[in-house]
Amino acid sequence: MFAVGTAGILAAAGLATLSATSGTAAGATKASGTTESAAAASTLGAAAAEKGRYFGAAVAANHLGESQYASTLNTEFNSVTPENEMKWDAVESSRNSFNFGAADQIVNHAQSRGMKVRGHTLVWHSQLPGWVSGLGTSDLRSAMNNHITTVMQHYKGKIHSWDVVNEAYQDGNSGARRSSPFQDKLGNGFIEEAFRTARAADPNAKLCYNDYNTDGQNAKSNAVYNMVKDFKARGVPIDCVGFQSHFNSNSPVPSDYQQNLQRFADLGVDVQITELDIEGSGTAQADNYRRVVQACLAVSRCTGITVWGVTDKYSWRASGTPLLFDSNYNKKPAYNAVLTALGGTSGGGGEGGTKACTATYSPAERWGDRFNGKVTVTAGSAAISDWTVTVATRSPQRISTTWNGTASWDSSGSVMTMKPSGNGTVAAGASTSFGFTVMANGEWATPTVTSCTAS
Ligand code: G3I
Repeated sequence: MFAVGTAGILAAAGLATLSATSGTAAGATKASGTTESAAAASTLGAAAAEKGRYFGAAVAANHLGESQYASTLNTEFNSVTPENEMKWDAVESSRNSFNFGAADQIVNHAQSRGMKVRGHTLVWHSQLPGWVSGLGTSDLRSAMNNHITTVMQHYKGKIHSWDVVNEAYQDGNSGARRSSPFQDKLGNGFIEEAFRTARAADPNAKLCYNDYNTDGQNAKSNAVYNMVKDFKARGVPIDCVGFQSHFNSNSPVPSDYQQNLQRFADLGVDVQITELDIEGSGTAQADNYRRVVQACLAVSRCTGITVWGVTDKYSWRASGTPLLFDSNYNKKPAYNAVLTALGGTSGGGGEGGTKACTATYSPAERWGDRFNGKVTVTAGSAAISDWTVTVATRSPQRISTTWNGTASWDSSGSVMTMKPSGNGTVAAGASTSFGFTVMANGEWATPTVTSCTAS
C-alpha cells in the first residue's frame, strides 16, 4: 500500500471538533490520538458516577495553570488527590507553622467544579521534615496529634477520605511494621492513636489506611488485613483501606486482585484504589487497566478509583508511560478500556448497545527515515461486526506499508481509510489493531486518527 500526503488536510477536512488532535512534530514517538464516532462521549468521572463511584486523579498545584492539564482534569475526573501538597513536609515544614497554600489551591479548584477531594496523607515516614525525626517520644506524640488535628480541621467538611496512615508495613514476607520515627518511638499503637485523633478532628471524613504491594494476598496485605480486623473488633475508627496499585512488569496486577479487595470489604470497610498506574502501552496496558476497573466494579464496597496523575508527561514514572493520557494529552488505549469497562459510551453516545468503536494511535518502532504506528480499535458496549477507521498523515509523509487491514486513500493521498481484512467482528469492549509504516520525509508529526465508525 502506498500514498502520498498533502499539507493542510486536517483543516480542510474540518476535523477540529473531533477529540483527536495531531501531535507536535516533537511528539512523533510519544503521541497517540483517539477519536470517537460521536461528539457526545462520556467521561471517566461521569461513567464512574453512573456506577456509584468516583474516578479521580492525583494533581499537582503547579500544573493547574497549564490549560490542557486543567481542561483534561476538569473534563474527565470528579475527584482529586493532591500528589504532594498535603504531605507533612509541604504543610508543616517547621513545627506548628502551617502552610496550606498549594493544597488550598487544589481543594479550591476541585470544590469550585464539584469534584471530591481525597486527603493524602497525614502520617507517613516519607516526605517527613527533619524536625519530626529529631523529637523525643512524648514530643513526637503531641506533634503527630497536633499535625493530624490541625490539617484535618483546616479541611473539615471538604475531604471525603483521608489517608490517615500511609505505608506503615514492610515489604517482603515478614508482615512486620516498617521502621519509622512513629513506629520506633511510639510503638505499634501509633496507627490506632492516629485514627482516633483523626476521627475526633473530622468525624465525617472517611479514615483510610493506605499502602502499596498489598494489592494481592501476600504477607504484607495479610498483616494489614489483621490490623483492620483487629481495629474493627475493638472499635478503633477505620472506614477504608486504600490499595495504591502501582503496577509494572515486576509488580503486575495480581491474579487475586478482586478477591483481595473483597476480603477487606468483608471486614466492613470500604476499599479504594488510590494511586493506580500501570506501566506499558497499547493493548497490554489497556487490558491491565480493564482488569483493575472490572475488579473494583465487582466489589460493591469499592467506592472509587484514583489514577496517580493526569498525564504521562508529569507521572512520577514518566518513562513507563503508566497513565491514561499521553504526554500530549491524547487518550490512550488504556483510557478507552477504562471508559468502556465503566460502561461509558465512548463511541456511540447511545444507550443499550449502540454500535460504536474507538480508535487509538500508539507509536511503535522508529528509524532514521520512517516510523511504525499502530491503531487499536475497541468496540463499545456492544459487539460490532464491521469497522472503518480513518487516519490522517501530514505532508510530505507517505504511508508505505500497512498490515492487519485493508487500506484505501482519498484523492489527496493523506487520509487513509482502513477496514478489516476479512471478518471485522469485535466483541463488546474488546480490541483489534492494525499497523502501518510512515516514511517521514522530514516530517515527524504524529498521524491523527480522525474517525472510527462501527456497524
Ligand atoms: O518540588 C520540588 C522541586 O522544587 C525541586 O526542584 C525538585 C528537585 O528534586 O523536587 C521537587 O519535589 C519533588 C516532588 O515529588 C514534586 O515533584 C520531590 O523531590 C520528589 O521526591 C517528589 O516525589 C513524590 C514522591 O511521592 C515522594 O515520595 C512524587 O511526586 C509522588 O508521586 C510520590 O507519591 C507517592 C505517594 O505519595 C505514596 N505512594 C507512592 C507514591 C509514588 O512514589
